[in-house]
Amino acid sequence: MSYEPFVAPETDETIAVYPGTFDPITMGHLDIVNRALHLFDRLYIAVAVNASKMPLFDLEERVEMIRKAIPAGEERIRVEAVSGLLVDYAYTKGAKAIIRGLRAVSDFDYEFQLALMNRRIEREVETVFLMTGFRWIYISSSIIKEAARHGGDVSGLVPDHVCEKLREKFMK
Ligand code: COA
Repeated sequence: MSYEPFVAPETDETIAVYPGTFDPITMGHLDIVNRALHLFDRLYIAVAVNASKMPLFDLEERVEMIRKAIPAGEERIRVEAVSGLLVDYAYTKGAKAIIRGLRAVSDFDYEFQLALMNRRIEREVETVFLMTGFRWIYISSSIIKEAARHGGDVSGLVPDHVCEKLREKFMK
């Protein structure tokens, strides 16, 4: 996949990339998006490939669900599908930071590894960890899919249109 060439912004905009599989996007992810917007002028939500996951939704569906979840007219956020190395993508966007959400100590091992590997590959991009809001610390995309698969009510944990997409998927 090729990206638009990076054009250095004329302003001193601070830019960050928030990557993930987002299969699907949850209220916890959206909480991190809001927190990141307090710190950065522009945020790229990068729907990336995690080689160890077999997503339920294809890349286009995931991108579409995130776009719908973002308030209309919010110009500071872009949602894009990403293949290849995340740090390369971040660099081409002029991003100084990769945002990751932390929920519990159990997230830390993997996040630490990922952040250090990313830094080894590209020293110009830092990883910034944000604490997920307390209401969302127990949710993950997998647990939501698991509940929805068995007909559980996941409303309030994901945007309404995502609830609908989950229902459609599991009715098939
Ligand atoms: N609220 C709710 N859930 C959250 C959350 C939050 N704030 N933050 C994380 N999670 C959950 C996610 O739902 C996800 O749950 P799941 O495992 O049940 O699907 C899990 O925590 C973490 O997943 P996610 O944030 O989607 O990230 P990921 O670990 O799948 O993403 C990539 C990893 C895509 C960022 C990473 O593989 C990547 O960078 N890939 C590109 C290639 C590359 O550069 N690799 C690194 C070089 S070594």
